[in-house]
Amino acid sequence: MRGNFSVIQKETGFVNGLITVLHDITEQEKIESERREFVANVSHELRTPLTTMRSYLEALAEGAWKDEEIAPSFLSVTQNETERMIRLVNDLLQLSKMDSKDYRLKTGWVNFNKFYDHIIDRFEMTKNDDITFKRDLPKEAYFVDIDEDKITQVLYNVISNSLKYSPEGGQVTFRVRPSDGFIIVSITDQGVGIPKNVIDKIFDRFYRVDKARARNLGGTGLGLAIAKEMVVAHGGKIWAESVDGKGTTVFFTLPYEQEEEDDWS
Ligand SMILES: Nc1ncnc2c1ncn2[C@@H]1O[C@H](COP(=O)(O)OP(=O)(O)O)[C@@H](O)[C@H]1O
Ligand SMILES: [Mg+2]
Repeated sequence: MRGNFSVIQKETGFVNGLITVLHDITEQEKIESERREFVANVSHELRTPLTTMRSYLEALAEGAWKDEEIAPSFLSVTQNETERMIRLVNDLLQLSKMDSKDYRLKTGWVNFNKFYDHIIDRFEMTKNDDITFKRDLPKEAYFVDIDEDKITQVLYNVISNSLKYSPEGGQVTFRVRPSDGFIIVSITDQGVGIPKNVIDKIFDRFYRVDKARARNLGGTGLGLAIAKEMVVAHGGKIWAESVDGKGTTVFFTLPYEQEEEDDWS
């Protein structure tokens, strides 16, 4: 009896070990294939502006520079493409910094409403006149322990999307709600929306619903991937909801502490 049992034990041990090894292999393969895909994407994204620049520069060199009408517009194409590459490389550096092992957040306690309000002010100063802003922020103070630069970047990436994809006359709504130890921050637009089947993919590196359109709007496809890493580093979550053609809401959460009540009075 004893003998049998120990054989069974040994075999189960062996099978479990095998499953672990197989699991590790598939996990490693997944990481490796993601890495390859990432490198292919980066190369492709860099090659596109470079080949465009090359052909415009060739045309200029072959004589277009003498044409007072054509030359400025060709030059502006090469300038735009250069700007795109700078944005892309900056985004990539941002991601690689966060991937590094000794990456640390520089956190401090911040009254979130005040902080959010200031950021919305900044966007309000530069926004298009035909877009209206609506702020729906609670009166109570919610204190969050955040790296201000990083959360500024998250808000910047999300808000600039909602402006980019808003229609003329659209409204953008900014909200904060408390829920279970977290604040839920949201930005709602009345823009083109995102199809249901790809709504989770928009947080993947380089994913764009419409590549050509995103490119024309100056997008790199990395904005939300960066936002996601930053929110997760703060212990939060980020997601989106959308009615295709009607608008999009991007939500993210941050752990908070409520304004201190005076217990003694
Ligand atoms: N507010 C929005 N409305 C509609 N589509 C959006 C919105 N925000 C993001 N998207 C979609 O998600 C994709 C990824 O967003 P992002 O990572 O910021 O890349 P980018 O803005 O550089 O294209 C966008 O290309 C777009 O297709
Ligand atoms: Mg973007």
